[in-house]
Amino acid sequence: MEVRQDQPNKVELRSLYKNYGGLSVLQGIDLVVKAGEFVTLIGPSGCGKSTIFNILAGLEQADSGVVFLDGQLVSGPGQVAFMPQRDALLPWRKILDNVVIGLELRGVPKKEARQRALGQFETFGLKGFEGNYPFQLSGGMRQRAALLRTVLMELEVLLLDEPFGALDALTRTSLQEWLLRLQSQLQRTILFITHDVEEALLLSDRVYVVSPRPASVQLVQEVALPRPRLPEIITTPEFVALKVRLLAALKAEGAYA
Ligand SMILES: Nc1ncnc2c1ncn2[C@@H]1O[C@H](COP(=O)(O)OP(=O)(O)OP(=O)(O)O)[C@@H](O)[C@H]1O
Ligand SMILES: [Mg+2]
Repeated sequence: MEVRQDQPNKVELRSLYKNYGGLSVLQGIDLVVKAGEFVTLIGPSGCGKSTIFNILAGLEQADSGVVFLDGQLVSGPGQVAFMPQRDALLPWRKILDNVVIGLELRGVPKKEARQRALGQFETFGLKGFEGNYPFQLSGGMRQRAALLRTVLMELEVLLLDEPFGALDALTRTSLQEWLLRLQSQLQRTILFITHDVEEALLLSDRVYVVSPRPASVQLVQEVALPRPRLPEIITTPEFVALKVRLLAALKAEGAYA
């Protein structure tokens, strides 16, 4: 979608540092996202990507640096819709009751929340499992339920931490397409984490390549490919050139050597 460069930043991270005990995890992370943009973080396992999201979601505090949302300092949780890497479904709640939690917390009447959720079960490949408990679902189904719950929260900024990691290729493609539609129709701003270079390029306006721990930003790659992006785009020379570039940056980092 068209992103206006003259508008204020939706999300802004400035010089984030974070240690866990003696372990230095973040070493000066800067990142800017405008309203409606799709921005992806990619980098080696254990480098600090999820930590960045935890701080942005207000669940962890940075040792130094600032996090702005709409120009305001983030003071605590609940300001962005966050899908953590581990699905975090409540085991004692049926799937339908799990996915409406965000709406319930925001005071949407239960009946309306359920209706809104039910309208999406087919798209998410969960139809027929509304009354099942999380332990009765596959890993991919749990991941889709967690994604549905996050999207239903109807907050402007979505943080999705490897949401498609456990999915088969077909489901992954259909949910990627669905996510792109969601973003362009509902003007959501999305921050995304993946280990998949093609997925990053297919979805994003910009990709941040993060270094091994302690994390710093190694490369900021704009992805100026036309939208809508159809799956065939991955065979175009422009796409392949970007892929080579990202893979080289990751390899230089020793991420996938
Ligand atoms: N709450 C915590 N307490 C102590 N150490 C932590 C905590 N959370 C994360 N870490 C450490 O911080 C480092 C970065 O973890 P993080 O989960 O951010 O990595 P990641 O980039 O998301 O990795 P992956 O791609 O495997 O998900 C790891 O070494 C991890 O052990
Ligand atoms: Mg992670």
